[in-house]
Amino acid sequence: MKTEHPVRENIIEFIPAIRMMLSAANTKITRLLNNDTINQFCEDRKSLEKTFDLIRAQKNSPWDGKFIYLEETATPQDIITSFIRELEDFRAGSSTPPQIIAIKGYGLLAVGRSSHAVSLLLETFENALDSLLTNEEKPKRKASDENIVPAHPDILHQKICIVTGGAQGFGEGISRSMLLENANLVIADLNEEKGLATSADLTSLCKSNELIFVKTDVSSPESVKNLVIQTVKNFGGIDVFVSNAGILKAGGLDEMEPASFELMTKINYEGYFLCSKYASAVMKLQSKYKEGYYSDIIQINSKSGLKGSNRNFAYAGGKFGGIGLTQSFALELAPFRVKVNAICPGNFFEGPLWSDSEQGLFVQYLRAGKVPGAKTVEDVKRFYEKQVPLGRGCRVEDVMKAIKYIVSQEYETGQAVPVTGGQEMLS
Ligand SMILES: NC(=O)c1ccc[n+]([C@@H]2O[C@H](COP(=O)([O-])OP(=O)(O)OC[C@H]3O[C@@H](n4cnc5c(N)ncnc54)[C@H](O)[C@@H]3O)[C@@H](O)[C@H]2O)c1
Repeated sequence: MKTEHPVRENIIEFIPAIRMMLSAANTKITRLLNNDTINQFCEDRKSLEKTFDLIRAQKNSPWDGKFIYLEETATPQDIITSFIRELEDFRAGSSTPPQIIAIKGYGLLAVGRSSHAVSLLLETFENALDSLLTNEEKPKRKASDENIVPAHPDILHQKICIVTGGAQGFGEGISRSMLLENANLVIADLNEEKGLATSADLTSLCKSNELIFVKTDVSSPESVKNLVIQTVKNFGGIDVFVSNAGILKAGGLDEMEPASFELMTKINYEGYFLCSKYASAVMKLQSKYKEGYYSDIIQINSKSGLKGSNRNFAYAGGKFGGIGLTQSFALELAPFRVKVNAICPGNFFEGPLWSDSEQGLFVQYLRAGKVPGAKTVEDVKRFYEKQVPLGRGCRVEDVMKAIKYIVSQEYETGQAVPVTGGQEMLS
């Protein structure tokens, strides 16, 4: 049983730079692994060289690659500087790019063109180390055909995406669609049980991409920072951050308690700030080391961010604020080619917020007699659908089209894109 070593926080200050320096036409995926076996065999440059020699001498050796070794340095910037030097030497002696970078004090960084390729590489390497210990050969897993980059990859192909609030509702739908587009995904949600269940359900959609779940509270700086660290450890950086987690507790001035107002503001408004703060640090570092590279922060806002909402001011206020943050972040981050945009969906009638059979808004409005003459949930639903010029609620695929537009667009930032079926129009 291998003991995995804790990851050091400052990996977010150098791994995204290394990933970008290794990314020529297509961005690469990296994964950091550090455990007892790796430490035993890769303690210093000499022992790693010896380990590679032993692996090469094994029967049916899986390994003929070379590696880069980085000594422990005082600062992350020093690691970047020594990597630049070592990479130059490596390229002088090899026609293929490095796949393994050993970083003293941190572990082994595997590099590949997909998550699946990186997993296979690390598995092969660990198996080879194990057989050095046990003298037993382990069966090899073959790379699947899905590892081959398609001629016309989807816009999200092998991008590293985070979706907060990805356990259910819009977030779950966005996660599902992103996986189908071959994105690498981090589902970040406060609800661990649901988040793990959704992740288990969605894993079967992965081809050469992979997905992880990280329990996250978007209103806590430590928790959001941990989300970014785990993402960088597993995939090497962040290309698209979808700030989707949000809560809604409606109420007028008489009934809204200050504590409820504060909680909604913390999650819906402050949470977006925290996510942008920690994600943008990684994105800026990436841009510095790859010319022409763009990344995206996307807030799932609401039509309530464009127009006041009766007896729902805590929600609408936070969403209006989200658009102010979007515009301001966009101005600040434009020089780093980090685009920041908001999507303002209309009501997602098919999602749990509206359709949950016990707590959904349709049931609540029926019970409260909010819709005159409505006798069933369907009557309430029809009443709301009629208010949309295009006659239906917003769906995940509508939001996904907006996400893909934003990611593909290199000349748009600071926008609030309405996806409301015509219910809200920009002036
Ligand atoms: N449902 C709609 O009709 C609608 C319409 C427009 C915009 N939106 C927006 O879309 C987003 C998603 O809404 P939904 O209806 O899918 O919501 P939902 O309630 O179905 O799901 C929200 C998810 O966020 C998670 N979450 C809550 N607090 C969190 C926190 N502090 N940290 C991390 N995760 C947390 C929940 O566990 C849940 O999985 C929200 O920002 C919402 O404002 C929703």
